[in-house]
Order: sequence, then C-alpha cells, then structure tokens
Amino acid sequence: MTAPAPVVTGENGNGPSAVPETLLEGRNLSKAFPGVVALDDVSVAFGRGEVHGLVGENGAGKSTLLKVLSGIYLSDAGEIRWEGEPVSFKVPPDAVKLGIEVIPQELSLAPGLSAAENIMMGIFPARAGRVRWREVNREAKRIAETIHLDIDVRRMAASLSPAEQRLVMIARALARNARLVIMDEPTVSLAETEVTALKKVVKRLQADGVTVVYVSHRLDEVLDLTDRITVMKDGRVVGTSPTSGVTKSSLIEQIIGHSLAEQFPDTAAPTAAEPVLRVRDLSGGRIRDVSFELRPGEILGLAGLVGSGRSEVVRMVFGADPRDAGVIEVAGKVEKMRHPRHAIAAGLALLPEDRRGQGAVVDMSIAANVTLPVLRRFAVKGFGFVRQRQEAKAVKSRIERLGLNTPSTQRPLKFLSGGNQQKALVAKWELSEASVFIFDEPTAGVDVGAKQEIYGLIAELARGGAGIILISSELEEIVGLAHRVIVMREGEVAGELQRGALTESAILNLCFAA
Ligand SMILES: Nc1ncnc2c1ncn2[C@@H]1O[C@H](COP(=O)(O)OP(=O)(O)OP(=O)(O)O)[C@@H](O)[C@H]1O
Ligand SMILES: [Mg+2]
Repeated sequence: MTAPAPVVTGENGNGPSAVPETLLEGRNLSKAFPGVVALDDVSVAFGRGEVHGLVGENGAGKSTLLKVLSGIYLSDAGEIRWEGEPVSFKVPPDAVKLGIEVIPQELSLAPGLSAAENIMMGIFPARAGRVRWREVNREAKRIAETIHLDIDVRRMAASLSPAEQRLVMIARALARNARLVIMDEPTVSLAETEVTALKKVVKRLQADGVTVVYVSHRLDEVLDLTDRITVMKDGRVVGTSPTSGVTKSSLIEQIIGHSLAEQFPDTAAPTAAEPVLRVRDLSGGRIRDVSFELRPGEILGLAGLVGSGRSEVVRMVFGADPRDAGVIEVAGKVEKMRHPRHAIAAGLALLPEDRRGQGAVVDMSIAANVTLPVLRRFAVKGFGFVRQRQEAKAVKSRIERLGLNTPSTQRPLKFLSGGNQQKALVAKWELSEASVFIFDEPTAGVDVGAKQEIYGLIAELARGGAGIILISSELEEIVGLAHRVIVMREGEVAGELQRGALTESAILNLCFAA
C-alpha cells in the first residue's frame, strides 16, 4: 500500500467518490517515551466528512497518534495542520476550540457526577447564570437515547457498568457540535444492538459533514463503516487505502505483516465427571434464580445484551458482589463466596470486565500485576518475599507468547497500550492454578493476532481439565469456542443452547424473544 491516491471508492456505498479535502493533517510526527518510539515520522490526513479507520496491532501507536492530534500529548517533531493551516496544540482545549472531540480508549468519566452532568459538562443550558437541571437531564436523555443508552441519566457515573460508561462517553462527544470526532475503540464491551446503534450515529455524523476517525480491532466494523483505512505498525504508517479496495484478509496481512487464517482451536467435548462448579438459585440485584453447572473441560458461554446480567452473575459467583440467595458449590463442596478471597481459596479465577477498575493496579509493574494472585507460589516459605528472578522468568515467557512488546516487565502497567494491558492480565490468570476460570470479555481491545493466542490459551486450560465461563460481546467468539451457551435476559436465564444448535442468530433470538 502506498500514499493515498485519488481513487474512486463509491461503489460499495461507503461514501465519497474521491479523496476528500483534508480537514486535519499530521506531518512527520514523532513521539518517544523512555525506551519506546511510539511514533516514528508519521503522516496522516483525515478528509472532511469522511469516516477514516485507523488499525494496527496493540502498541502500534494509534492512541498516541490521536493524542498528539488532539493536544493531549506534545509531539517531539512534526507539525499539525487544520484546514491547511499549521496549528499548535499545547493543551486539549486548543483542539476542542477547533471542534475536535475525542472519545478516549480508557473509561474516563467523572465518577461522582451523574451521567447527565458528564454528558453535558461545560455546555449546561443556563439562564441568568443558573443551571436548569431539568433541561440538562432532558437534553442528556435525548442524546443518550440516540445511541440506545437506556438509563436514568441522574445515576452517578460510578454506578454504571463499563459498557454503559462507554456509551455515556460517546453521548458526551455527540452533545458538542464537533467537526471531527475521534473514536478510540468505542465498541469495546458493547454488544450487537449498541454497536448497531453506534454505527447509525457514525453514519449520521458523516451525513452532517462531520469527520470521524474510527479505531477498532473489530475489523468487520472498520470495513463496514469507513471510507478509507490507515494501517499502523511499530510506530509507522504502513499506508492508507480506500476501503473498497481492501478485504479482511488483506487488512490482517498489513496489520500483522503476514497472513493468518482466522480460526478457533479444537476443544474436546467435556468429560462426564462431576461438575467443578454448581450454582443454584442465585438471586440478588437484578439477578433472579440463576442456576447452572460447569463440568471439567467445559467452556460455557454466557451471552446476553448489555445490562442482561452476565457480568453480575459471575461477580456474584466470585463473591465480588453480594447475593441475596443462592448456593455455590465447587467440586461438590458448598462454599461461602462472600468475598473474592473465598473464591480464590476455592480455586476460582476471574478476569473482570473493567480491567482498570477491578483487575489491575496500573501504577505497579507489569510483572507485579501478572503475579499478583499467585504470589504465594513464588514466595519463599517463612520469609514471605517474592523470588524476583523466578517471577520475572515466568512473566516474560507468558507475555512473549501473547506478543506483548515492552522494553521491561518492570515498567508500570499504565505505560502499556490498552490492548497490551489486557494481555498482561490474561497472562496473570494463566499462571494461577484455578479449577474454574471466568473470563469476562478477555479479548476486549486485543489485536487480531493476540486474539488467536488467547483462544488457544482458553482451549488449553479447558483441555487441562479446568471449567471455563466465557463472556464475550463478540458472538463469533462464543460460537467458536463454547460447548454450551446460557443466554441471559433481564437478569434471568432466557435459554440454553448446545454446541450443535449454537449459531449467532440462535443466540440473538434468545436475547430478544419476549
Ligand atoms: N504514557 C506513556 N508512557 C510510556 N510509554 C507509552 C505511553 N503511552 C504509550 N506508550 C507506549 O507507546 C507505544 C504505542 O502505544 P499506543 O497506546 O499508542 O498503542 P495503540 O496502537 O493504541 O495500541 P492498542 O491497540 O493496544 O490500544 C506502546 O509501546 C506503549 O507502551
Ligand atoms: Mg490504543
């Protein structure tokens, strides 16, 4: 692929028929962090009114590029042009003034403010200096509804699920009349219906002449939505091409540098042995009477729309959320499960959905995060300190398998790209010796190559005799990996599907059926 050429791209209905006039441009941008060159002489141009996809492996430099182009980071070299004129962004408001809105990759709401306040922050309708709350809430609600975010907008942001928080972030960007909207992994942890709603929003923005920059590891989404796609690799731009001239496999090849047959590993049928986990009549919060069993070697999918209660169920089983009723047995023994401590002691491991809030200590090193739940194994009896060298070796071998590139495992986790943080946390659970692994959105934000590694890892844990519960908003993952699927709807079990009957449409039917 070479530099963008004025090619006709209209035939797939994906938008303008020639390369549009440039709105925002970066020229020869470079940016280094200690030990890492995040951007190496990068040039990109986003056209007026186009939807521009930006793809690449974890750590390729996508978020860094967008942060430079929106004034969050200062570049070391290069220049930024807006409508052809050089501009300098010293602080984010410089970019906001021009009409650039960013929906960042990390969840970033003010937790103590309501959803409505987060959406309307800075643009409160006021009269005579007084904020008119009823109007604020009404306007926020109206915007939320356009993206199918069906919540009481007066709720505190902290009380919302990760998917709901992401939708609030999207609503916040829509509330301002932006000329260019940057969406960095907007659909992480969103399910089909929300993704469909978001796609409509993107199309509407485009119809209004707004430019959208769209970053996602879900390549089908990128191919469906965009007019042009820029691929990044190792801090450089590989090229920009019209979407009409790209196929999924050619895109994968550009992203990872070689071809890759997308496939799911073989998973043997589970044994008929006694269940490793038995959950009976679980109730609490929105959850009512959920019962299921999990056998050794079985991969059980939990499907459902955002808000259907998938994550709540596993958090209750893990003792992370309180339950009103229900019995939880591990290997035939009733366990208290009033605290994650009880769950870990009983042999359960949970990779939570909200990795930054619940799964990680972002200020601690990669190595410390990976070995956090298994410190006991590395601790020398009676001394209680961690054998650092042993730890470092185990960590290194795991994360290398997942293709996590970092100069040192002693760096704080927060310096890794979003997807690479996820890989580190998956590695962490692989090291634990649990008999039940619960993965809530294990591939959120993870690149196409590493996804395959994670599928392989899940299959391997199952082959080793562990029971697996898998939650994923990407239905093809559930269909490709699970032996059996339980579909949740409004806090209850709506139905169950066995492998032979397992299709995306069968799952969706159960999600919606009344
Ligand atoms: N604040 C920071 N301090 C140190 N290194 C950083 C910082 N931000 C990013 N990096 C490094 O820069 C490189 C590019 O990261 P970036 O977040 O731009 O990747 P990305 O393409 O967005 O990846 P992902 O798909 O995982 O989100 C990575 O090696 C990352 O570790
Ligand atoms: Mg990123």
